[in-house]
Amino acid sequence: MDYTFTKIDFWLNGTRIQDEIPPGQSTFDYLHRKLQLHGTKCSCNEGDCGACTVAIGSAREGAIVYEAVNSCLFPAARLHRKHLITIESLGTPDALHPIQEAMLNHHATQCGYCSPGFVMSAFALLAMKPKPSRDEFLAALEGNLCRCTGYDSILKAMLELGAKGIDPVPAWARKIEPELFSIKTEPQYLQQKSDAIYPACKYLLPQSLEQLFAFWSDHPAAVPICGGTDIMVQVNISRRKFPALLDLTQIPELRSIKLQRDGLHIGATATYSDVYNSGIVKTDYPCFASLIRLIASEQIRNSGSIVGNIANASPIGDSLPLLLVLEASLVLQSTDSQRTIPLKDFFLSYRKTALQPFEIIREIIIPPLPIDAFVRISKAAKRKSVDISTIASAIRIELDSAGQITKSLLAYGGAAAVPMLSFSAPSDMTGKRPSDIDFPKLASQIAAEFTPISDVRGSADYRKQLIANQVIGYLTELSGRNK
Ligand SMILES: Cc1cc2nc3c(=O)[nH]c(=O)nc-3n(C[C@H](O)[C@H](O)[C@H](O)COP(=O)(O)OP(=O)(O)OC[C@H]3O[C@@H](n4cnc5c(N)ncnc54)[C@H](O)[C@@H]3O)c2cc1C
Ligand code: FES
Ligand code: FES
Repeated sequence: MDYTFTKIDFWLNGTRIQDEIPPGQSTFDYLHRKLQLHGTKCSCNEGDCGACTVAIGSAREGAIVYEAVNSCLFPAARLHRKHLITIESLGTPDALHPIQEAMLNHHATQCGYCSPGFVMSAFALLAMKPKPSRDEFLAALEGNLCRCTGYDSILKAMLELGAKGIDPVPAWARKIEPELFSIKTEPQYLQQKSDAIYPACKYLLPQSLEQLFAFWSDHPAAVPICGGTDIMVQVNISRRKFPALLDLTQIPELRSIKLQRDGLHIGATATYSDVYNSGIVKTDYPCFASLIRLIASEQIRNSGSIVGNIANASPIGDSLPLLLVLEASLVLQSTDSQRTIPLKDFFLSYRKTALQPFEIIREIIIPPLPIDAFVRISKAAKRKSVDISTIASAIRIELDSAGQITKSLLAYGGAAAVPMLSFSAPSDMTGKRPSDIDFPKLASQIAAEFTPISDVRGSADYRKQLIANQVIGYLTELSGRNK
């Protein structure tokens, strides 16, 4: 079979490498099969356990960023112009890395299968923040599972490191940092015959929007891939095959987050972590922080994008209820035209969207949000981290100076075939004071609007109860605030 390999230029544990990557191969497979580096482990192959965590160093907006990612979901071709740091490079049996030493001192490892992943997650956190707080360690490690040691000793080791404040990045990695800014090589594409079976026939890494649409016109069946946290799960678990994958992440103009006159613009490839860490978002749209902390794990947040969540069009995409109440719209880009569509009109039916062939979501626009708007989100799931919603919702209420509701929007995910705004919430709340609303009556009226399904996460009745409970929770908090 004919495959197109992607020739990339990157650093592996301090050494510059040019290599030909089979199309769609994950970084984990590349490490094990080609490089014979077996220190990085694999348990789930779908982003849930963190055993495969590696750190990636890259140049971004004038700074070097180190991030932990799940190598099982990170396409190896995307390593182009980056520095891949794996467990093999951190310490030796005679001279352990400080993170390894702390884990040893606190008996934070038993069978050791999860340990490389914990070390790499801690490495990426400490590289960006030498003295993380307990909460920051917990957030950074929530995507790492350990089945035998127990988390207490791991956390103790981490807290000791945090108290000391270490720079975990070895001198050889610091030396490469200036080169990460200056490397300009373009990926090359090489036709090869192979008896092996790969996830795609081609993996294309356009470096500009112009190149993206040129590649797409040459390969009309190509599928866009952003963080890959949905697509690579389909590759690894469902064994889905693609004629070509079109990676959007190396097009600089797609990653921006900007505040403009018409609101906040979030580019297509901005990750959850980019949005969480953005100063503009923290001050003008603080509601995103509570949403993003509930999504997946640090490793997934470092790769996955909000736009990917929208385009994936799952009714339980967690960012969708919030974006609906913020009245977001989407800029859709094709070869030579752009159109803007309200997010509420984007979802046509179960996983069907208004995207036309050869069109990408270029950015999300979120109109200005009054500083005193009451915006809350709620996610009902079985676990706090790395779990999918049973029901998710978001509410936005604005009040006038007399305490009357002037605007009310309420949206749900997991409550119907598409994420949806409630139609009765605005008409039944607007013009009233929160204290004048009969909460249980309104809650059951809103629950009656939705048609959730029964599945392994909960029955339709249970979901309806969650819908009603979330309304009551929001209104109770709002009326408490306005007493
Ligand atoms: C372990 C794990 C935990 C997760 N937890 C959560 C969670 O808590 N909540 C949640 O909502 N989701 C969760 N997810 C799902 C996933 O991480 C999110 O949906 C994420 O936002 C997808 O973004 P991505 O950039 O990785 O998308 P990708 O996988 O790259 O793409 C997803 C889809 O969008 C399309 N696409 C991507 N970008 C564009 C674009 N610009 N224009 C047009 N089409 C595009 C792709 O073709 C594909 O069909 C989880 C996934 C994993 C593996
Ligand atoms: S192997 Fe479990 S997250 Fe990658
Ligand atoms: S030490 Fe065995 S899984 Fe963590």
